[in-house]
Amino acid sequence: MTTSLRIGIVGLGRLGQRHAQALAFGTRNCTLTAACSPVESERVYATEQLGIAQVYSRYEDLLANPDIDAVVLVTPTSLHADQAIAALQAGKHVFVEKPLALNLPDCERVLAEAAKHPELVAMVGFVRRFDPSYRAAQASIEAGEIGRPFIVRSQTCDQNDPDGFFVKFAPTSGGIFMDCSVHDIDLARWMLGRPKALRAYATGTIALHPGLAEFGDVDNGLAIVDFEGGAKAVFYASRTMAHGHETTTEVIGTAGKLLVGEHAARDRVVRSDAHGVRHAVLKDFYERFETAFAAEMGDFVAACRGERALTLTLDDAMEATRIGLAISRSLASGMPEVI
Ligand SMILES: NC(=O)c1ccc[n+]([C@@H]2O[C@H](COP(=O)([O-])OP(=O)(O)OC[C@H]3O[C@@H](n4cnc5c(N)ncnc54)[C@H](O)[C@@H]3O)[C@@H](O)[C@H]2O)c1
Repeated sequence: MTTSLRIGIVGLGRLGQRHAQALAFGTRNCTLTAACSPVESERVYATEQLGIAQVYSRYEDLLANPDIDAVVLVTPTSLHADQAIAALQAGKHVFVEKPLALNLPDCERVLAEAAKHPELVAMVGFVRRFDPSYRAAQASIEAGEIGRPFIVRSQTCDQNDPDGFFVKFAPTSGGIFMDCSVHDIDLARWMLGRPKALRAYATGTIALHPGLAEFGDVDNGLAIVDFEGGAKAVFYASRTMAHGHETTTEVIGTAGKLLVGEHAARDRVVRSDAHGVRHAVLKDFYERFETAFAAEMGDFVAACRGERALTLTLDDAMEATRIGLAISRSLASGMPEVI
């Protein structure tokens, strides 16, 4: 493909605006041609801030535009499956934010539709796979540098938002494990070589946001997953960190271990003075993964243009949902759940 890939973005909320900016101003070989949002202020944003001429309030109208090659979905998770299927049926490549869907039948429907369109790229946004540090860790494991990896400990911890914005999302996010730990779940499978997951046990507590109780959700959750062959993963997700955003992963192998993201350091400056020794802290996931989000979009565009094959598959995304669902069931039942 010699011409620029023409992209339509759908959803211009918290993350959608970030993806849109990256696609409009920072990604090679693509043009952000169109945008869609049911919210008028977001459409105005697309026109005025991004300079997009073709702005739609209805997704069907964006899909009917023959001048769009690919669609980037940054919409509420409950819409992902139907919107991804509609994009494929309209002959567009599709990038959909994580998680692929909140139930397995929806995942299966997307996989079945994608199988009918092998010429189209369908990709799920597990952004950590595009982070330079996680990539280096996975390459080290693949090269055998820590022997056989058998334990992953991974956490996604957000700084506390006193307004509890995520309580508003609780009915549609799938809960803390599907929303946050799904990244750690995908990482664990990637680092451990895609083993089959067997059992999950989860527990959690509400430390600061009682509004979550009516949705059966928690603001701090812990889970253990058993994999075939004896490997284990331990996940921790929190919405209530006092200091900042802290995504950390440890992979333990028979000949060494790897640690990614310790202490949530924002940069490489360590200040020592009369108050002690300290460094600045990352404030949110975007600050931590901005480079990875850019690389992710770059890889999507390259895959659509036929320049690169994706290693992250829809099957990986479905397995992440399968494990996340079992963890969520265990949180509700208080019992180990078969995956
Ligand atoms: N990869 C990551 O680390 C990461 C981080 C945050 C969010 N996400 C994912 O991104 C997705 C969006 O999250 P968010 O925080 O930006 O949510 P958000 O609520 O801020 O934004 C959702 C957007 O979808 C739009 N929308 C709603 N219904 C629509 C419809 N029918 N058609 C078109 N647009 C519609 C809304 O107007 C809004 O612009 C979620 O699936 C979430 O899991 C991923």
